[in-house]
This record gives sequence, C-alpha cells and structure tokens, in this order.
Amino acid sequence: MIEKLNTLPEHIAIIMDGNGRWASQKKLPRTLGHKAGVEALKEIVRYTSSIKIKILTVYAFSTENWKRPLEEVEYLINYLLIEFLKKEIDEINRNNVKIRILGDIKPLPKKTKEEIIKAVELTKNNKGLLFNIALNYGGKDELVNSFRVISEMILKKTITPTDINEKLVSKYLYTANEPDLIIRTGGEKRLSNFLIWQGAYSELYFTDVFWPDFKKENLIEAINDYNTRNRRFGGLKMEE
Ligand code: FPP
Repeated sequence: MIEKLNTLPEHIAIIMDGNGRWASQKKLPRTLGHKAGVEALKEIVRYTSSIKIKILTVYAFSTENWKRPLEEVEYLINYLLIEFLKKEIDEINRNNVKIRILGDIKPLPKKTKEEIIKAVELTKNNKGLLFNIALNYGGKDELVNSFRVISEMILKKTITPTDINEKLVSKYLYTANEPDLIIRTGGEKRLSNFLIWQGAYSELYFTDVFWPDFKKENLIEAINDYNTRNRRFGGLKMEE
C-alpha cells in the first residue's frame, strides 16, 4: 500500500536494468530477458496510469546500446518495440495514456519509425499519463543538440550569449520535465547517461531486483521510500 498518497511523485523515471542477468540465471538467451522486461513494463504502465502518476519515463535503448551484439540490437529495435506498440497501443490509448519518444529516431529502421509515429500520433491528445520512451537516447547527446540549436540562434543573431540560461537549455532538450524519482533496477548504482540534466535534483532509488521481476509492489516500495525523503533542492531543510 502507498503510505502517503498526497506526496506521490509526479514524474517517475526508470532505468530498466537486469534483463540479461535475469535470463542468464534461468539459462535463457538474453533476448528472452528483454521479452520478460516488456511484461514488467506493461504492468508498471498500467499501474502508474491507474494511480494518476503524471509522467513515466523509461530508458528503453541508449545511444550506447548499439555496441551490443547485432542480434540483441535487432531483437530490441526491429521486433520487441514494434510488437509492444502493436499489441499494447489500443489499451494504452483507451487508458488515455500519451506516448512520447525521447531520443533521435532517425537512425531506426523504417518499420520501427512508422510504428512509433503511428503510436505518437494516435495518442497525442490524450490527457492521462505521459509515457516517455527514451529510445536511442543519451543525456550528453541531448545536451549537445540543445547547444547546437542555441549556437545557431547566436549565429543568426536572434539571441546573444547573455540570453543563455537554464530555461533556454531545457527548452531544446527532448524533455524539460524533471523526474522527482529515478529508479534503477538490477543492482548498479549509476545514471548511465540517463536524464543527466533533468535529474539534477531527482531522488534516486536503487534496487537489486532485476527488471523482469519488478512488479507493482516494488514500485510501491520505491514510492514509499521516496516519501521518506526530505527534498531541499539546495535550500534549507523544511520542517513537516
Ligand atoms: C538493460 O538490461 C535493458 C535494456 C538495455 C533494454 C530495456 C528494454 C526493455 C525492458 C524492453 C524494451 C522496451 C520497450 C519499450 C519495448 P541489460 O540487458 O543491460 O541487463 P544486464 O545488465 O543484466 O545485462
């Protein structure tokens, strides 16, 4: 049970790690770990949407994940993502969930891009959970893109360097939405280039649970832990 409903995080971001190790433990191929990861994701999307979390952002594929074996990359990009969107889009849409992609989808295969565009288009006016899928996403890459846009504005003299501030840099990121809580499953304790700007003041929650085993009860535990934190954003401790 969530102990303090009045302090639910508005924006939860998740690094879904441990699919490969979950599969190895069961002597299964890594790809089946990712398949089980999608099942866990479905439950978390359903649950966050039902408790009226405003934004869920998940790290599905990083700019560094291209270095993985071709078979695994193809399975994730050419098969699993397409399957997920095809099978789940009706329920996602019925639940008023809006899908957005964070990351550069240009290098993705045509079929994957088509499916993504269809899902984004279909759900664009939904007002429930905003479900961000970080795909070919890298936090450093996102900042570099923002700096490029700003540099061009300076060259065209539409702004001067003194106009650069945090709000402007945020404006040209894939998202300016800052997570209240970042969860990482699978035992590692790092951000791995995920929302490095937006996560400056996020509360971090790490668990050893592998992503395919992460259920709504684990999410509730993370939210309850978040509710014990005293968020100060660099200021003084606030008394309750
Ligand atoms: C990390 O586990 C996980 C990934 C790189 C992919 C995450 C993707 C999914 C959960 C499913 C795809 C998502 C969608 C939206 C269809 P790992 O492989 O690094 O695990 P390991 O650290 O145990 O090797």
